[in-house]
Amino acid sequence: MKFDTPATSNPIDQLRVVGQPVDRIDGPLKTTGTAPYAYERHDVARDQAYGYVLGAGIGKGRVAAMDTAAAKAAPGVIAVVTTLDMPRLGKGEMNTAFLFGGAEIQHYHQAIAVVVAESFEQARDAAAMIRTRYVREPGRFDLAAEAPKAQLASADSGEGSGAPQEDRTGDFEGAFAQAAVTLDETYSTPDESHAMMEPHATIAAWEGEKLTVWTSSQMIAWGRRDLAKTLGIPAENVRFDSPYIGGGFGGKLFLRADAVLAALGAKAAGRSVKLALTRPLIANNTTHRPATIQRIRIGAGRDGRITAIAHESLSGDLPEGQPETAVSQTRLLYAGANRLTALRLAVLDLPEGNSMRAPGEAPGLMALEMAMDEMAERLGMDPIDFRIVNDTQVDPEHAERPFSQRQLVQCLRIGAERFGWNRRSATPGQRREGQWLVGLGMAAGFRNNLVMKSGARVRLHGNGAVTVETDMTDIGTGSYTIIAQTAAEMMGLPLEKVTVRLGDSDFPVSSGSGGQFGGNSSTAGVYAACVKLREAVARRLGFNSAEARFEGGQVRAGNRSVPLGQAAGEAGLTAEDQMEYGDLAERYQQSTFAGHFVEVAVHAATGETRVRRMLAVCAAGRILNPKSARSQVIGAMTMGVGAALMEELAVDKRHGFFVNHDLAGYEVPVHADIPHQEVIFLDETDPISSPMKAKGVGELGICGVGAAVANAVYNATGLRVRDYPITLDKLLDRLPELA
Ligand code: MOS
Repeated sequence: MKFDTPATSNPIDQLRVVGQPVDRIDGPLKTTGTAPYAYERHDVARDQAYGYVLGAGIGKGRVAAMDTAAAKAAPGVIAVVTTLDMPRLGKGEMNTAFLFGGAEIQHYHQAIAVVVAESFEQARDAAAMIRTRYVREPGRFDLAAEAPKAQLASADSGEGSGAPQEDRTGDFEGAFAQAAVTLDETYSTPDESHAMMEPHATIAAWEGEKLTVWTSSQMIAWGRRDLAKTLGIPAENVRFDSPYIGGGFGGKLFLRADAVLAALGAKAAGRSVKLALTRPLIANNTTHRPATIQRIRIGAGRDGRITAIAHESLSGDLPEGQPETAVSQTRLLYAGANRLTALRLAVLDLPEGNSMRAPGEAPGLMALEMAMDEMAERLGMDPIDFRIVNDTQVDPEHAERPFSQRQLVQCLRIGAERFGWNRRSATPGQRREGQWLVGLGMAAGFRNNLVMKSGARVRLHGNGAVTVETDMTDIGTGSYTIIAQTAAEMMGLPLEKVTVRLGDSDFPVSSGSGGQFGGNSSTAGVYAACVKLREAVARRLGFNSAEARFEGGQVRAGNRSVPLGQAAGEAGLTAEDQMEYGDLAERYQQSTFAGHFVEVAVHAATGETRVRRMLAVCAAGRILNPKSARSQVIGAMTMGVGAALMEELAVDKRHGFFVNHDLAGYEVPVHADIPHQEVIFLDETDPISSPMKAKGVGELGICGVGAAVANAVYNATGLRVRDYPITLDKLLDRLPELA
């Protein structure tokens, strides 16, 4: 089915099941520990041996020699495979760093060996016996030091954000020079780690030439293709299976070393092999959100109207990598006739930088929305009014291109009222409660809405139940549930009559989970398959399909009513289709919007910042399940607090690695850090987006939060910290004396 004209009314609009805040259908499996994650799939392959991955101990150079004699002779060891045993493997289409093979070391903790043994402890023990001799080469590990050599580079995150290397509208420099009020500031964000709960893990088994991997992946079709490409085997010989995933945040979008080394280990051992990347390996072996240095210039008239806006971002990556698309939202968020964005890339020898939840917008808004707060203060305007004055209903670079829906102003107004924004003092540092300095901050949230081709198969059984199969993944987001809701709505069934099977490359290729495109895109694919199934049912029952109504497990037309299952017969009735998209995404700018509000208290003596209250007001199309959507948004808000106040991979600039490579050293918020979170969804449908009239929401929740926290810290203390995260050492010696 092709979606190339705006949606009109369709069965989803009934909202009997879709749009209801139903519990997750996989909830009982998760809460009873019976949803098996990749490492726990003990039943899928017989005789599973344990693999242990060894990472390189240098940041750049070559492996000169590896002595594996002791490891091979160690108790329980079945096989040892080293990177010197084979030439460099192929590279998947989505990969930047090479994953295995050959002597060259591109980054610290690049995989250099896998040891397979009867037990995990034996594999780990033997891995420690491998003696590796390296030839170290000087590496480029310091982003600021490499900045002078950085080159302009365009980028597309593949997740809805992107920008040309340089993008100009009007005459930025001229308008900025003329502006009555200006700002020119530089902001920085650190390298960050996804820090998902479930580590990267894979069980691999060969049957002749056929390889099956039970793994933890957001994107089944990409993973299958890239594993085949890496190993140099046909994609048809690879099966990828990933039904339950303990978080990904972009870290599991692409093939990683766990799947490759489980496959190589299993081949060498002649046994199925299971392995997980240990927590310390994840920070340096996989990918991370790259650090940015962002310069923002804004010029405005005294009336607060922006006349000139420029956003330039620098980030680093390995050779063949891309810059972080941190300027993406600045092309679309505010009006202004004279505009400039630029992306620069410095080549670094740190581990691969890549997508992490809302790549581009998350760090980009941390800078832009702090700059907007600073600019409002210079103009003597309320920061909400300043944003409202500069709202635009069209793409500011292409005035003929409207937004499909844009309710940013409504988000900000409703948020201001519900949060009690009028209690904020415009002068910072005014509100004290004992030793605590209290402040309010806000920011706009923005994230593009991407739609992706997505397929599904639906099968009607004789008992009137339906099974949906698609390679869509549920990374903790609620995919199982919204897919079941979609099929139930379309077929006129209660939710419990629908079974959903996900994450298997034997199923039709879906959008996968990424870029907040999964919810809307995958359900649209299920919609397409259900439309086909409805037609097939109507034909079988001799109904005119335009007239047939599907409700209460019956198919009705005129005065006839037949149980749905009757159309299935003994053999069942199957339909498969995919949703594809025309050019609506080019003709209209599709984005999602939020107003983020935060109250913080900063301790006047210690500089400790505590978030007290948070509110997100979101405009993101139809909300398919308010309960799972809220869960996505509060999770993202929590991640935004982490980015603002604590998350930072500390770079060892001499040896080129991330030092705090575990959850003791890499801090993320815990429940006690987040006392009160509220989410409001505006009542919105977006018929330009898909027949579901939904949009993405899973990343909108993080977009803008970091700046809202930073702006609240400023409002509390009068101290502006432009270098994230805002840890207490950056406030401590500047805090006001308490009387
Ligand atoms: Mo993407 S960072 O997996 O949503």
